[in-house]
Amino acid sequence: KKPDPAIFFILGGSGDLTYRKLIPALYNLFLDDWMPEQFHIVGIGRTAYSNEKYKAHLLEGIHKFSRRRNHKTDHWNEFSEHIEYLQMDVEDNQAYQSITKIVNNKEKTFGTHPNVIFYLAVAPQLVPDIAKHLGQLNICADRKCCRIVVEKPFGHDLQSAHELNQLLQSMFDESQIYRIDHYLGKETVQNILAFRFANALFEPIWNCNYIDHIQITAAESVGLEGRNSYYEKAGALRDMVQNHILQLLCMIAMEAPVSFDANEIRNKKVDVLNAIRKIRKEEVQDYAVRGQYGPGWMKGQKVVGYRQEKGVDPESPVETFAAVKFYVDNWRWQGVPFYVRTGKYLHEKTTIIVLQFRPAPHYAFPPEAAETWRPNRLTISIQPNMDIRIRFQAKRPGQKMTLSPVDMIFNYEEAYEDHSPEAYETLLLDIMEGDATLFMRADQVEAAWRVITPILEAWQNRPPVDFPNYAPGTWGPEDAEALIARDGHNWITLP
Ligand code: BG6
Repeated sequence: KKPDPAIFFILGGSGDLTYRKLIPALYNLFLDDWMPEQFHIVGIGRTAYSNEKYKAHLLEGIHKFSRRRNHKTDHWNEFSEHIEYLQMDVEDNQAYQSITKIVNNKEKTFGTHPNVIFYLAVAPQLVPDIAKHLGQLNICADRKCCRIVVEKPFGHDLQSAHELNQLLQSMFDESQIYRIDHYLGKETVQNILAFRFANALFEPIWNCNYIDHIQITAAESVGLEGRNSYYEKAGALRDMVQNHILQLLCMIAMEAPVSFDANEIRNKKVDVLNAIRKIRKEEVQDYAVRGQYGPGWMKGQKVVGYRQEKGVDPESPVETFAAVKFYVDNWRWQGVPFYVRTGKYLHEKTTIIVLQFRPAPHYAFPPEAAETWRPNRLTISIQPNMDIRIRFQAKRPGQKMTLSPVDMIFNYEEAYEDHSPEAYETLLLDIMEGDATLFMRADQVEAAWRVITPILEAWQNRPPVDFPNYAPGTWGPEDAEALIARDGHNWITLP
């Protein structure tokens, strides 16, 4: 069933997110026949655009960034008839009347009351004001039909996230608020729930009795991609760990949900965040490592150091790499370290989750077999490779009992012909359908801030003395290797 009629207002309609992600996603939904029979998209921005120029600009974005670059002009023409551009100063209260007018008009042409979705694809500092303006519109009082979508970063720290939550909740009901974490829309991330809870095989060993430690790597081979001023205020911990990485950790560590109800899933996830051991201020250096890239080379291209980037303080203390060791203090995960790391300009783009199992309880093979003996490992590759592999020991063919580790692999491309939708496609469809399962609830966001607050504070109070401490194209600073080596492990990357 297609979603009910909807109007999308994209605030930040002339911005990068709209151009790279939102319009390509909506267009793909349209091509896959998921858009409502009646819909309208209004890009709102400060830049002056005629409707025609705006549409041409959006089409260019599709050619550059959509997963589907080949499409028929007729399809685009049909889709783009639903798009208009509204030049508006989002700080001008009067201007919001244009929104009401558009809704009223569309209501008449649709012959029904549509869902109205406000997507805030704007700089974070504009969010509170826009929310206040929108909150005053009559349409926003309609809890069932009006929705507001807020992008990350959701606040700058616990305090500001709390204030933003309070503000939004004074204007909207929690059920109207969709806080996006695009990682949750990724096909491979959603599959973690299916893998864990639609199978009886894995759950019995998914705990501290069998798992030795867990690793989450979200490595990027790109740099700031033009978002210098945002990044200079954020850093890797805020940009990736507070949201994406902690969400991945929750998917891996959560208890089995009773149902697929949005609040049930979110309750189980927030339980994990609340169980993460609070790192004491004086212990932060034992649990967390920060890094910043210097100048160097990346795939034959010269890379300027972070501190030499435009708009970046030449003595910037901002981290472009972070590695943290977490513990989840509950029955299931007692004593199992969760090592996470992320960074810019690392060796390659790869997001993987590794569960390393404990050794078999007894070793019964001839001594020479021991050399190649490795513990079992389950690796979930989120991107760009999309697969799940289980490493186990096999007998190498021959007269002797020698062991060798082998992989059993489930690969999306081999298993399914269908193309995976982009995260934003899934999430935008969920918003139209009013399904908040994959979105962050207020308490989840705050709990995640609480987890990283001691690290943020310790880093702020103790400026880094060794920045820059890694070269582009490496796996980050040496201290990150030491963090995990101290426990007798090493970071795992797939061949
Ligand atoms: C964003 C961060 O949320 O996620 C970016 O702000 C980062 O800095 C991006 O590059 C990574 O997303 P993906 O989907 O490419 O892994």
